[in-house]
Amino acid sequence: MEDLKSLIDKEKLPRHIAIIMDGNGRWAKLRGKPRVFGHRNGVQAVREATEAAAEIGVEYVTLYAFSTENWGRPKAEVNALMTLLVGTLRKEVKTLNKNNIRLKAIGDLKQLPEKSYQSLMEGIEETKNNTRMTLVLALNYSAKWEIMRAVRQLAQEAKDGNINPTDISEKHFDDALSTKGIPHPELMIRTSGEKRISNFLLWQIAYAELCFLPIFWPEFRKEHLYQAILDFQNRERRFGKTGDQIAREGE
Ligand code: FPP
Repeated sequence: MEDLKSLIDKEKLPRHIAIIMDGNGRWAKLRGKPRVFGHRNGVQAVREATEAAAEIGVEYVTLYAFSTENWGRPKAEVNALMTLLVGTLRKEVKTLNKNNIRLKAIGDLKQLPEKSYQSLMEGIEETKNNTRMTLVLALNYSAKWEIMRAVRQLAQEAKDGNINPTDISEKHFDDALSTKGIPHPELMIRTSGEKRISNFLLWQIAYAELCFLPIFWPEFRKEHLYQAILDFQNRERRFGKTGDQIAREGE
């Protein structure tokens, strides 16, 4: 599918793509396998998405790997997901370094099992000087958790007299989120055909183009990322302005 890639305008790439990896369980079920089989096969899709994004020149990819709500799943599945995460991180750090990709994580990380937390921190430390692309894992993440934390932090700063409530700007709010310093995603992809945001980056996707792919996450390949970027480039991004205004700005 090299031709899809060649159709992409490198001058108009989204700087940041956020992905909701959905449908591992259903993919496995269709094959008469346990849900964990789906997660294991989802790892190859993670590689494909990361590689494709780095090769084309995207600067940030954020993957929704584990939501705060996911703790409610059967204990065996949660354990399997955590083990998979630790194992994958340990194995993939070399590849990340070889490809000059920096690892980051957002979410309530301290609540992760000790082993997962440690491998995550090691992975972040060992890749911190890489510059080609940043891969952000959203782990034990939920947008409402993040927003509430920011609200409490800003309220405390105001109470302490360090900021005047009327001076609180979008920039202050951005800087109080776990995505501080990361540009907002311009494109969000969700696989599995579900058309929901599921508590992912609610503030940050205010102007993102949403792309819902009718495939399960383990089926995700590089060409799906190319297709989503092409869709993004073919849609007009207006930020609430009229089409004429946007056309004039481009003159
Ligand atoms: C959603 O499918 C998938 C997840 C909750 C986990 C995604 C995890 C991986 C792909 C493992 C490796 C990840 C990294 C970053 C190394 P689902 O279980 O919600 O599927 P369903 O909607 O069909 O039940």
